Amino acid sequence: MKECGDGLSIRHPHVIIMVNNRQVFHKSNDKDKAISLDKITLGVCYYPEHWPEHLWEDDLNRMLEHGIEVVRVAEFAWNKFEPKEGVFEYDFFDNFLDLAHAKGLKVIFCTPTATPPAWLTHKYPEVLNARQDGILYRHGLRRHYNYNSKVYRELTARIVENITKHYAPHPAIIGWQIDNEFNCECNTFYSEADHKAFRTYLKDKFKTLDALNEAMGTVFWNQTYTDWDEIHLSRPTVSGCNNPHMALEEKRFFSHSTISYCKLQADILRKYKLQDQFITTNGIFGHLDSHEMTDSCLDFITYDSYPNFAFENSADPKRVGILRDRRSCWSLTRARSISSNFGIMEQQAGAGGWDTRMKQPAPKPGQLKLWTFQSIAHGADFISYFRWRSCWVGTEIYWHGLNDYSNEPNRRLEELKTTYKDIQNIHSLVGSKYQAKIALIKDYDNEWDGEQDQWHGPLADYSDNSWFTAAQLTHTPLDFLYLRYSNAKKTTVEDLAKYSLLIYPHATILTEETASLLKAYVKQGGILIMGARTGYKDEYGRCPMRPMPGYAADICGVKVVDYTTLGPFDEAEKAVWDDSLIDAPIFNDILEPKDKAKVLATFKGNYYDGAPALVVNNLGMGRAYYFGAGFSIETAETFLKKLGLAEPYRDLVELPREAELAVRAIDGKEYLFILNYMGYEVEIDVKKPMVNMLTGEALSGKVTIEKYGVLVLEHK
Ligand code: GAL
Repeated sequence: MKECGDGLSIRHPHVIIMVNNRQVFHKSNDKDKAISLDKITLGVCYYPEHWPEHLWEDDLNRMLEHGIEVVRVAEFAWNKFEPKEGVFEYDFFDNFLDLAHAKGLKVIFCTPTATPPAWLTHKYPEVLNARQDGILYRHGLRRHYNYNSKVYRELTARIVENITKHYAPHPAIIGWQIDNEFNCECNTFYSEADHKAFRTYLKDKFKTLDALNEAMGTVFWNQTYTDWDEIHLSRPTVSGCNNPHMALEEKRFFSHSTISYCKLQADILRKYKLQDQFITTNGIFGHLDSHEMTDSCLDFITYDSYPNFAFENSADPKRVGILRDRRSCWSLTRARSISSNFGIMEQQAGAGGWDTRMKQPAPKPGQLKLWTFQSIAHGADFISYFRWRSCWVGTEIYWHGLNDYSNEPNRRLEELKTTYKDIQNIHSLVGSKYQAKIALIKDYDNEWDGEQDQWHGPLADYSDNSWFTAAQLTHTPLDFLYLRYSNAKKTTVEDLAKYSLLIYPHATILTEETASLLKAYVKQGGILIMGARTGYKDEYGRCPMRPMPGYAADICGVKVVDYTTLGPFDEAEKAVWDDSLIDAPIFNDILEPKDKAKVLATFKGNYYDGAPALVVNNLGMGRAYYFGAGFSIETAETFLKKLGLAEPYRDLVELPREAELAVRAIDGKEYLFILNYMGYEVEIDVKKPMVNMLTGEALSGKVTIEKYGVLVLEHK
């Protein structure tokens, strides 16, 4: 249990929900907003509105037979509640809830605002979202609305209020999902209402036009504003470029709008929902500070995990990299940085695809279970499959659920049964926490600034991906640590001190406050690694007159005396570090050590051959490294090995690179998840006697893991 802000250690009240005399969901108010259950629980996404009512009972019976205890419903069902403006009907879901309750199934009920009905968008076209050129996105898909339209906010408030008031007392409902996947499909908003709200947002933030002009650098190219009405979100421009400082502010505004819309709903839900019902939403998407949203609106986050994106026809090999479906661990790591135990609201259960795009193969035998355990290994305690049955109409006819159109038994349902059986053997792990001694620092400002900034955005993506991959391949569990600035959840030195190593590859925007936090972390004994392009921008993305790397100079004991991106005719840059020749790709900062800092590696090649490439600075009880380049996977691995931080569990188990190691711990005991993502067997070496919790089998020495196989090991 964590300490509260006032320094008192309070055990937060856990609310226990009794369903049919069985405890199912607890709800905790932990600082990290974790889901709290008394066992690992399975659910499924179900759309009663897609099927004749006579199928419901059989569907629910079969869910129970497969170990499913929770059903999520209604996220696209606005027409079922309000078929005509102002006419509200409740019978349809009353019947469903009564039946679910009679069967002993619990329900997560959703607000239906992701798909405003045709009557609504026809009568009030101003609720529609727009492209940057002002053309409206029309009815026909989903997420076609904007967050700032006054009328949409009113209609949202009314339907959420009516639904919650009516359904909240129903004993089947254990929690609420707000909307569906905020900012999926589209994460930019350019309707008239958004332009207007942007002006209000800027007025609140900057108060005067002078302050705004100064912060946004509008002196450049004569962009100075003389009236608030001259200000717009970005619009089409010659060569498509926009003021970079306004572009960053725009992303902050999109996030602010999304959170304010989510809060509108959360506040209504809290007014009417029963005390023990939780509030969540699903997914993590662009231009949204999901940490802030969770803090201000939710009890915990849930994520939608579709590892099969790695295998779809149009999969981008650069994004998927060598990890392929294992790269979904990236998103799970992100979810875990919000809620240490989270839920999976949609876990892939079949082939994926719309009729227009995304051709994904069926999960191979074993992958449904593998991906379920991938989620659990990273901290998920609730796994809800998408979806019960493949839909027979609409855009998603190829997005397959557990059941096919035929509704006949199939291998995926069989695999679910064995998955459920296995999960029953690890219920004691519920609430256990993922164990990592190293973390990659992330923050939304650099992420959003890097979208437009081609000098640091792609570099940061490249290095983040390299560090993540290196940690995966060397079986070095890694967390993401998101820097938080809001008062309630401000990142503290104690938050950082949980890690022996922090990597902040390219902190281009680095404020004095963040730098002093990092400095305090190093001083108390931490190790920090930073890379090229650190610290030259301020919070608005401007480049103030000061030596680089700005506020990082004192921490890393370094000055950047020259810098260059590597052009197409530059040789692949390298650096010599003791006896290793490491990659120093993409961008080079040529360094000069300050005071007692030491040069560890020098560049090889280019006009700065022999100049310092890597500097280490001892500070207090810790040390900080500055590497004047991007990090390749190999370079990141070299760092992990040289610092002695790779493979922290090597005394217990030795694994091939193809297999993942994840560790969860509870009550001082560690449990090792070993996942084989390959379509062939792999061999591991179990060095201390262990028991595979899934089978009860004692293991030591060479052990074979079947293709797509999973082990959960407990020390004997
Ligand atoms: C998710 C979404 C679901 C479904 C699924 C498959 O993003 O929440 O409603 O669309 O993808 O496409």
